[in-house]
Amino acid sequence: MAENLICGIDIGSTKIATVVAIQTNDEEDLRVIGFNSTKSRGVKRGLIIDIDQVTNAIEESVEKAERMAGHKITHAFASVGGPHISSLNSHGVVAVSNPQGDINETDVERVVEAARAISLSTTRQIIEVLPREYMVDGQSGIKNPAGMSGVRLEVDTHLITASITNLKNIDRCLSDLGIENDGFIFSGLASAEAVLTDTEKELGVVLVDIGGGKTDICLYADGALSYSSSIPVGARHVTNDIAVGLRVSLESAEKIKLLLSKTLKLSQGKDQKKPDSLALNELNLPEDVSDVSPKTLIDNIIGARLEEIYRLIGEEIEKSGFGQNIPSGLVVTGGGAHTIGMIETGRKVIGLPIRLGIPTKVIGLLDEVLEPEYASTVGLILWGRKNIIGYESGIKKFNKIFKDFSIESSIGKVKNLVKQFIP
Ligand SMILES: Nc1ncnc2c1ncn2[C@@H]1O[C@H](COP(=O)(O)OP(=O)(O)OP(=O)(O)O)[C@@H](O)[C@H]1O
Ligand SMILES: [Mg+2]
Repeated sequence: MAENLICGIDIGSTKIATVVAIQTNDEEDLRVIGFNSTKSRGVKRGLIIDIDQVTNAIEESVEKAERMAGHKITHAFASVGGPHISSLNSHGVVAVSNPQGDINETDVERVVEAARAISLSTTRQIIEVLPREYMVDGQSGIKNPAGMSGVRLEVDTHLITASITNLKNIDRCLSDLGIENDGFIFSGLASAEAVLTDTEKELGVVLVDIGGGKTDICLYADGALSYSSSIPVGARHVTNDIAVGLRVSLESAEKIKLLLSKTLKLSQGKDQKKPDSLALNELNLPEDVSDVSPKTLIDNIIGARLEEIYRLIGEEIEKSGFGQNIPSGLVVTGGGAHTIGMIETGRKVIGLPIRLGIPTKVIGLLDEVLEPEYASTVGLILWGRKNIIGYESGIKKFNKIFKDFSIESSIGKVKNLVKQFIP
């Protein structure tokens, strides 16, 4: 049974979340059997800044998740994000190996390989190669060319690259804990897998994961991922602003922010009008702050920061060149999505439909994971299973595994993992 465990370790700026799921023969969905979220240490804006601290935090989270699952975690997919992530779209062309016959899987792999051949700085590594569309003898819009006839095969791919230093640091943390790295997954892509619908991707949509220290962006146009980035702004900035505005510590500001969300959520649920003040006394803050009005907090402090965050997201959308192709608007997830006014401010600034993204597609008794802050955590195991282990397509994409995770140390590990899934 333990062979079918799929685990994910989401290394965030605010929390380290570990998820353990099991793939059974009788259930289509992954069943979550272990989960833990621990306060993050040593990560800033998605980047590891202190290996020892991160390793300790991961160890704590992994141990608690193991205890809940009743299984040891020996391998896991790891999230990677932050402003060192960048993306580009690249084109590949090959001659079909047997022009008299059909295009085969090897031709498809060769053309994707050709699209990978870009000049890349020695400090960067490709972590994802996603075909956007294929062209056969000039005919575009093809999703799967295998079995078609033609002589010239082309592909448009989306490549995501990351800083090798950060990847190596993550590898180091995991190997120190005796955990094999099944593969790096961009946290924004993981979140997209957990919260977006196929229809949204087909129509055109932007996934926005607002974490503590960074915001991941994944733009889909015509069903394909077309732009990915990660900007160094997150919900922590809202906390900073509250700290400055009310002259309190960051810890107190975070508590006040969470109390505001809780109070307004409760008042909404009961259909009451917005409360005039926040019951700060229940927080036992060390500072002497008198009761603060939610309206002042929202209008004078939080609203301005949210507008700023959306303006930066808007700039990214513009930079992508696909701004006109996203009628489904934005799906906002990540812990920051809980911030009061997040959806309304987005509609005002971006002028497109905005909805809250909540992870789905997993089962189990742990409702706790079905919250926006765990979109990327849940997405790690969903993306890992579908695209690396190749479960859903029924084809085990071994080649993809070996090409995508070329940091030598992880290859042997992935081989072992794949062996476990060979029937
Ligand atoms: N109920 C809430 N109301 C307002 N903000 C919230 C709420 N819950 C969480 N947050 C904020 O969400 C942020 C954490 O989000 P998340 O857990 O997605 O971050 P992370 O994944 O650890 O970080 P990152 O992805 O940036 O590396 C914190 O700044 C926290 O204050
Ligand atoms: Mg995150």
